[in-house]
Amino acid sequence: MMPLSYRSPKTQVRASNIHGRGLFATTDIGKDEIVAAKGGHIVDRKTLREQISPRLGPVEIQIDEDLFIAPVSDEERESSMLYLNHSCDPNLGIRGEITFVAMRDIRSGEELTHDWAMTDDDDYSLECNCGAPNCRKTLTGKDWQRPDLQKRYAGYFSAYLACKIAMRCHSDRSEEPHNRSSSHTK
Ligand SMILES: C[S@@+](CC[C@H](N)C(=O)[O-])C[C@H]1O[C@@H](n2cnc3c(N)ncnc32)[C@H](O)[C@@H]1O
Ligand SMILES: [Zn+2]
Repeated sequence: MMPLSYRSPKTQVRASNIHGRGLFATTDIGKDEIVAAKGGHIVDRKTLREQISPRLGPVEIQIDEDLFIAPVSDEERESSMLYLNHSCDPNLGIRGEITFVAMRDIRSGEELTHDWAMTDDDDYSLECNCGAPNCRKTLTGKDWQRPDLQKRYAGYFSAYLACKIAMRCHSDRSEEPHNRSSSHTK
């Protein structure tokens, strides 16, 4: 089977101190280089929760309000997994919704991590095991709302979260015509 996801040839999956297996740099990687891109099927939250997570575990990335990319079968699982663990001091950010890029120069041997605040808008809470000096200990699916993280990861949020942060999306967008016309009347 052709791989569903892309992992840079400069990376390797191996045991991680954060959790299970992780993705590691096997050579130096320059800032803004593409490290990985997620592939799979596009599914909604209900399908993910009811049909995919119970069978395959945490295999998805969120790409919009109610949309996720994930493998849907055992056969697809390995070729879709990126093995990216979360860190509160990550070296990867998101370009668009599925592409992971280096936020800074990365040295050979470093584990490649992103912060779930960059991708997730969800209702979970989880104890973090990243070990970073600035670890926030408890991660939540609403961490993208934190002003400190919005500042820190500006330019590296998933596009749909960047849109929410800029308050241009979804329900906020319905306010736009009103705001525009009212500003014209001033
Ligand atoms: C997509 S998997 C990452 C790959 C995983 N390490 C493996 O071996 O399959 C995401 C899962 O890894 C675990 N994980 C990743 N980063 C973590 C962290 N900083 N603290 C605690 N658990 C983490 C959580 O169980 C999470 O649901
Ligand atoms: Zn942490």
